[in-house]
Amino acid sequence: MKDPHLTELTAGCIAAVLPAAGSGQRFGSDRNKLFAMLSGKPIWFHAASRLAARPEVGRIVMAISEQDEVDFRGPFAELVNELRIELVRGGDQRSDSVRAGLDAVADDKSIEFIAIHDAARPLVRDADLAAVFAKAAETGAAILAAPITATLKRVLNDGNASLTVDRSELYSALTPQVFRVDVLRRAYDRHRGRPATDDAQLVERIGHPVALVHGSADNIKITHPEDLRIAEAILAR
Ligand code: CTP
Ligand code: MG
Repeated sequence: MKDPHLTELTAGCIAAVLPAAGSGQRFGSDRNKLFAMLSGKPIWFHAASRLAARPEVGRIVMAISEQDEVDFRGPFAELVNELRIELVRGGDQRSDSVRAGLDAVADDKSIEFIAIHDAARPLVRDADLAAVFAKAAETGAAILAAPITATLKRVLNDGNASLTVDRSELYSALTPQVFRVDVLRRAYDRHRGRPATDDAQLVERIGHPVALVHGSADNIKITHPEDLRIAEAILAR
């Protein structure tokens, strides 16, 4: 029987790009939220180690801010080296940080796919990684996404009326978002700073379909302080 945890991809053909150059405004701590500890390790380390555990991932590039460089090259250097993470300088927008990661692997012929994964998502499951990698290998562009469970309302008449939206076709986008190198390169070459909420949107704009792969809703992004408590509970399970 086919092992669902194995993909058809060659070992090492994926570069994982982890944008980590934000500042965590909404988290409200005095340093980058990614340094917050989750079960004894910083958030970014969890995210990177889940990708590092996949045989398809040959390189891990993490985009960091100028401000955080002293931490990543100082107290965290050992953890960075443990996972063989390559550090690059991120930018003002998340897409600038992703682009920096993309540029770092541009000349590497062994890299066929890029998996962009928020350093703020420490809980992505191995089976979901395998599934989204396999779909990207098949289609050139695939992202993890979770079905919306909330009941959704569309505001009408300045909030004095509303309509229920059919949620059966709606998913929330997660990461990793995985693309064939040439597809993502084209999308970023065309990107001129027009706001985009994720990398998949840039790929949609060049007319390349992006497949959705059903991922676990546990793959939360740590945004607010309470998300850390939720992540602790999920990890402890
Ligand atoms: N990120 C990045 N470069 C930026 C902005 C964000 O690499 N210029 C990264 C963050 O470090 C995070 C991921 O993109 O790993 C998702 O962004 P988000 O959750 O919004 O993190 P922050 O931007 O740090 O948080 P906030 O928006 O609350 O300030
Ligand atoms: Mg942000």
